[in-house]
Amino acid sequence: MSRRRQIYEGKAKILYEGPEPGTIIQYFKDDATAFNNQKKGTISGKGVINNRISEHVFTRLSHIGIPTHFIRRLNMREQLVRQCEIVPIEVVVRNVAAGSICKRLGLEEGEPLPHTLIEYCYKDDDLGDPLIGEEHIACFNWASHEEMQDISSMAIRINDFMCGMFAAIDIRLIDFKLEFGRIFDGDFSRIILADEISPDGCRLWDINSGEKLDKDRFRRDLGGEEGAYQEVARRLGLLENEDSTPGEVFDLSSHRSRLRGKPPPAK
Ligand code: TMP
Ligand code: ASP
Repeated sequence: MSRRRQIYEGKAKILYEGPEPGTIIQYFKDDATAFNNQKKGTISGKGVINNRISEHVFTRLSHIGIPTHFIRRLNMREQLVRQCEIVPIEVVVRNVAAGSICKRLGLEEGEPLPHTLIEYCYKDDDLGDPLIGEEHIACFNWASHEEMQDISSMAIRINDFMCGMFAAIDIRLIDFKLEFGRIFDGDFSRIILADEISPDGCRLWDINSGEKLDKDRFRRDLGGEEGAYQEVARRLGLLENEDSTPGEVFDLSSHRSRLRGKPPPAK
């Protein structure tokens, strides 16, 4: 196999130059970080599961008309995506109070918010991704007014869709983070959904038990993160189960499943 040029290594993914101009390969690592890289570890098999979950969610979002960077999954840990210019803003959508908003505003974790909240953070690890307002985005020209309208309306549509998708498998979507990019066509550009959607960047709670099925297990040293990520994939129908039936009680320690999915297309 020819050597590929690495474009960028992030905390959870590596980006390589894709096979055609305008494409990129996203490689999903098992590495996990929290609190802006202060806590580091690995979640065994996470890259494989996140690749598959993100493929599934992006594909379903494209079916409701959300433009995304996803082209196709290449193998267990890699997917081919459209190259785009990442907008330097993390878009956080919250339905229920959890995480940083609880600390910031003194809210109780698990309190439903009066309505869905969209927050923006400036994507800069050295600054710890500070919370910003639309005024900052306009002032520093990180995105235009029209782009922000596209971003916020897509974020709401994505939230509505994902709340339903997860509710159908007994998961409560507490909050999540999105990233968007620009693709250029001559003098014009448009906004597409980029990065990934996986339990790394979402808070997902079991609807009945409240059990956390996301990276908070790692962030808060709860243990069982491998099983939690697998459980999300299993409920989404992405795992072939050897020893479980639908609705089976969630058991982080004993779950054994294999990833289901068509083999990647021959090149
Ligand atoms: P927060 O409560 O820590 O602000 O996180 C809100 C949501 O955004 C949560 O689902 C985790 C996700 N998130 C990321 O994916 N990356 C990040 O760097 C941060 C801070 C949050
Ligand atoms: N991904 C971020 C980090 O590593 C924050 C987080 O997910 O908690 O630092």
